[in-house]
This record gives sequence, C-alpha cells and structure tokens, in this order.
Amino acid sequence: MQQTERYLTFALGKGRLAKNALALFEKVGIHCDEMYDKESRKLIFVNEDLKMRFFLAKGPDVPTYVEYGAADIGIVGADTIMEEGRKLYEVLDLKFGKCRMCVCGPESARKYLEHNQFIRVATKYPNIAKDYFYNKKHQTVEFIKLNGSIELAPIVGLSEVIVDIVETGTTLRENGLTVLEEVCPLSARMVVNRVSMRMENERITTLIRQLKEVIDKGEE
Ligand code: PRP
Repeated sequence: MQQTERYLTFALGKGRLAKNALALFEKVGIHCDEMYDKESRKLIFVNEDLKMRFFLAKGPDVPTYVEYGAADIGIVGADTIMEEGRKLYEVLDLKFGKCRMCVCGPESARKYLEHNQFIRVATKYPNIAKDYFYNKKHQTVEFIKLNGSIELAPIVGLSEVIVDIVETGTTLRENGLTVLEEVCPLSARMVVNRVSMRMENERITTLIRQLKEVIDKGEE
C-alpha cells in the first residue's frame, strides 16, 4: 500500500524574517501565495502540490513549535534560538537579518565594564546576557528583564547598560548611546525538529541543499 506523503510544516517568525524567508523559498520553487493576502485572518497556509504548510508565529514561539514537532521546520533569529535553548537542530544560516548582540550604554558606562563593577543590565534576552556576563566576562551583575524599547533603560536610569540587538545603530545614535562590547553576530537560521530530521530526512536534506545553493550564490 502506498503511503500518502505527509505535510511538511513550517513555522516562520512574524515580520521581516518571514518576508525574507518566503522570498528565499520562492527561489527554490516553493510558493505560498495565500500568505501575501493581508486581508486574510487565516493562520495556516497550505501548498497542496508540494504538501507543505506554513504558519506565522511570534519569534520566541518558533523554537517551541519546532521542539514539540508541531512544526517540522522553523525560521527564526539566532538570538531567539540562543535565548530559548530548545532541543532542536540548527541546520542552516540563511544569511539575512544580519545584526549583532551587543552590550550598549552611554560612553560613560564603559568604565563599569572594564572594572567589573556590580551594575544593572536591562535586556529582553536574560539568558544570553547571563551567559555573557557570568561565563565569558566573569562579572557579577543584576539583570532586569524588559520586553521592548530597551534603549530607554540607561536613559531613564533603570540600568547602567543594556544587552540588545544592534542592526544599523540608528536607535543607539539617536539616543546618545553606543556599542560598548559585542556579544556575538546574529542572522536568521533554519531549525529542524529532531524526529522530523530522521523521518523526513530526504525531503529536508534536499531542501537544505537547494537553499544553501541559492544562499551561496547570493554571497558570491
Ligand atoms: C530592535 C532592537 C533595537 C533596534 C536596533 O528593536 O531591540 O531597539 O531594533 O535596530 P537599529 O540598530 O537598526 O536601530 P525592535 O525594533 O525589534 O523593537 P523592540 O524595541 O520592541 O525590541
């Protein structure tokens, strides 16, 4: 008896990441026109011919869907993968969404970092910040979790420095802040559920190979 091919399900981080991911998928012949309909309230989009399904999720939820197998594949930022620490395979650097995780603050805060002082660090990424300060810098600090507009913290005196994403540097510049230290470079990544990687190995490795070819061509 011939088994019907199951759907391969993709979870895409909402926003720019998803847009770039769809543009990249198109280059390897994966289309999902339904996803471009802004009026639609549908949450999940299907390409029947390719037996693929796509849904959008908040960035930090993408690794969760993938770890539990609700999605076979996820597209998400390296920052989120590191912060969430989920059990999954990171299989491909998609080379878009490039930015950096940095320790930032006013120039006057540099001395606190150089002299390992007990300072407050505001961030949306407490796990990444803890790893950096405790394991790499061996500096004891207090972490304050925020959910957005992190740059406000040193301006209003909530913290001495922040750990946050810097892309163009405009937000820092416009607020009198600067990069004090770089934690790591970031970009969008493709992640795969560990069981799916075994069960759907051929389809997934073919997709990775095709995407890699397109990405490498773009880099030349
Ligand atoms: C991110 C990040 C910085 C900004 C950096 O915030 O947290 O605030 O972008 O970009 P830039 O270097 O190009 O100025 P985002 O816009 O995602 O919103 P948030 O403040 O709610 O996190």
